[in-house]
Parts: sequence; C-alpha cells; structure tokens
Amino acid sequence: MTRIGHGGDVYAAARELGRDLHRVIDFSASINPLGPSPAAVRTLRAAEAWLGHYPDPACWALRQALAAYWDRPSEEFLVGNGSTELIHLLPRALGIKHLMLIGPTFSEYAEAMTRSGGQVSMLLANRADGYRPPLETVRAALKQRRQPASDAPAIGAVLLCNPNSPTGQACEAEAVRTLARLAARRGLWCIVDESFAEYADHASILSEPLPARTIVLRSFTKFYGLPGLRVGYAMAKPAVIAGIAAQQPPWSVNMLAQRTAVAALQDVRHAGRSLHFMERERARFRTALTRLPGCTVFPSAANFLLMELPVGQKSTAVVAALRRKGLLIRDCSQVPGLNARSMRVAVRSRADNDRLLRALSVLLRGGGA
Ligand SMILES: Cc1ncc(COP(=O)(O)O)c(C=O)c1O
Repeated sequence: MTRIGHGGDVYAAARELGRDLHRVIDFSASINPLGPSPAAVRTLRAAEAWLGHYPDPACWALRQALAAYWDRPSEEFLVGNGSTELIHLLPRALGIKHLMLIGPTFSEYAEAMTRSGGQVSMLLANRADGYRPPLETVRAALKQRRQPASDAPAIGAVLLCNPNSPTGQACEAEAVRTLARLAARRGLWCIVDESFAEYADHASILSEPLPARTIVLRSFTKFYGLPGLRVGYAMAKPAVIAGIAAQQPPWSVNMLAQRTAVAALQDVRHAGRSLHFMERERARFRTALTRLPGCTVFPSAANFLLMELPVGQKSTAVVAALRRKGLLIRDCSQVPGLNARSMRVAVRSRADNDRLLRALSVLLRGGGA
C-alpha cells in the first residue's frame, strides 16, 4: 500500500519556503483555531517542576480526570503519545490480522496494519451519498463474514472513524452501537476513532457504557489544540485496556503533556467558546467556498471541510501552488475512494479563512498556479 502521509508538517514547509514558521498558515492539520485553553497554557508554563523526574508511567492524574469527566472507572482509560501511538498498538495487542476499514478514511489505520504484518479490506462510501459511511453494507459483510480472498486471515476487527476524516461525515451514536454489538456477537473487535467527536456530541458512543470488544480512541490534538504535546487516549473494558497497556513502551507520555491535558480537559469555558466559534465559522467558510465557481464542499461535523475543485483542476497542482504562497492544504487525491479534485481544508480563524478564499479565487481564475 502506498504511504499517503499526513498534513501538519509546517517545519518542512518553512524550510522549503525559507520562511519563518509563523508565516506558514496550516490548513492541512485540523486544530482548534482558538488554540489551546488558556488554563492549559498556564499549566504548561509552570511545568518546570516536573522536568527532574520521569513521567508518571500510569498517567494517574490524567486518568483520574478522564474518569471524572466521563463518569467511568479510571481502569477504562489508557493514555498514549497521541492517539497515533494507540492506533499502532492495537493490531498486536488485540491480535488483529485483518482489519475492515470504512473508507475513504485516515491513512494511519492501514499503515499500522501493514507495519504489524496484517492486512486491510476497505468498504467505501459513495460520493453520490455524500460519502455517508455505508454501515448497512458493513453490517451485512460482518453477518456473512465475507472474505475478500480465500487465503486471507479472517477479519478480526472493524474500524470506524466518527466523525470521519477526511469526509467530515458523522454516524449517529445508536447506529455505531448497533455495529459494535454485532461485531462483538461475531467475536470481532470494533474500534471507533472519535478524535473529532468533541465537535459532534450526538455521534459519540461514550455517553453509555461501551459494548464488549469495543475500543474508542480520543485525542487532545484537535479540539483541545495541543498537537505538539502528543496526548490521546483509549477507552474500553479494563481487561482490554490492560492488554493494550502491556504493549506500550514505558513513559511514552511526558509529564508536561499529562498535566497540561488535565487542565485542558477541565476548562469547560474554553470548550464552549470553541464549539460556538466552530459552528458559526464552519458554516460561513463553507458557504464562501461553495461560491467559488465549480467547487463542491461537503457538509462536515468536524473542524475541517472536504471539497472538490472544479472539473479540469487537479488538487495536487492547486495544493502545490498554495504551498508556494505559504498556505498548506491537505491534498486528498491519493486517498482511496476520493478523486483527483479532492482536498481537505481546516476551518481556521476568519482572517486565515478569508486569506485562503482570496488565494483560491485567484488561482481558479487562472492566476499563478
Ligand atoms: C482521524 C484521526 N485520528 C487520529 C489522528 C491522530 O491524532 P493524534 O495522534 O495527534 O492524537 C488523526 C491525526 O490527524 C486523525 O485525523
């Protein structure tokens, strides 16, 4: 499988463009445009005291904070060095040799399977359905235990990203629970990546105890605006959590990250402001992008928008031209299930979004690609 890569590499872009890092505007990673909670930043500034010790290997304070936040026992949480670390621990910890993915989706799941020597089958959402995840088809496939190739290992897990990146589509929580229960009855794991679910409460299955064999992943990168710290967590039944924890290298989450994440989680005012801003600015930005001649912009439940350039344009060329202007966009033309005109843009501040709108408008009128 070809490596698709990630957005967010502002360092490479700054080096390449000979620009200061702060003059690169990153629409390729989808981070809360209001930034991290001011309380989290204050905690980080006071963090010197923790530098002289190893980090708490149990991430005790953060797990207690998560337990209080979700009203679940702390044994149901495992903290990782970003949810990426957890994604890579799962195949080995759960013995998954063959993963069913619901695409088009985030590339790291397939990457983790390839690294662990496993394989992936993908059920793709249709463009005609606005990329709505085809949960009925997934359920039918699980009922039949259909195998794509006769010598392939049995499918051991199904993974849904909800809301999904890069499409922005969210499934209702009850439909996800139905899928998870079916997977458990069939002896399969169900992994639900809720890295963007703070933006879509109705989609999260965390409001009720999790079904057996279900693992939910969350992140402090997106909504909490802390991509540089690397904090994510998994939630599952305690025995499952213990199994995943057994595969984790010691001290993978540093102490600054653990303490700052606690402060971020507890800052409900900043969370409220962030949601309010996103709801309004996403709608405004989407409407403005839709007005660019020939562009299609899909609705989104998260802090990014999947869009398609006009027929005749290629996202690879447009993304490269915008990069030369210091605007980083996620080219999605190589994402299985999307097309050569697909790209994903983060919803940033109003001023940044307007800057991208102006640059795109000039490019699409034939100026400077
Ligand atoms: C859907 C999804 N899940 C997980 C991650 C990984 O996030 P992190 O490792 O920063 O928690 C990303 C990052 O882009 C993502 O888009």
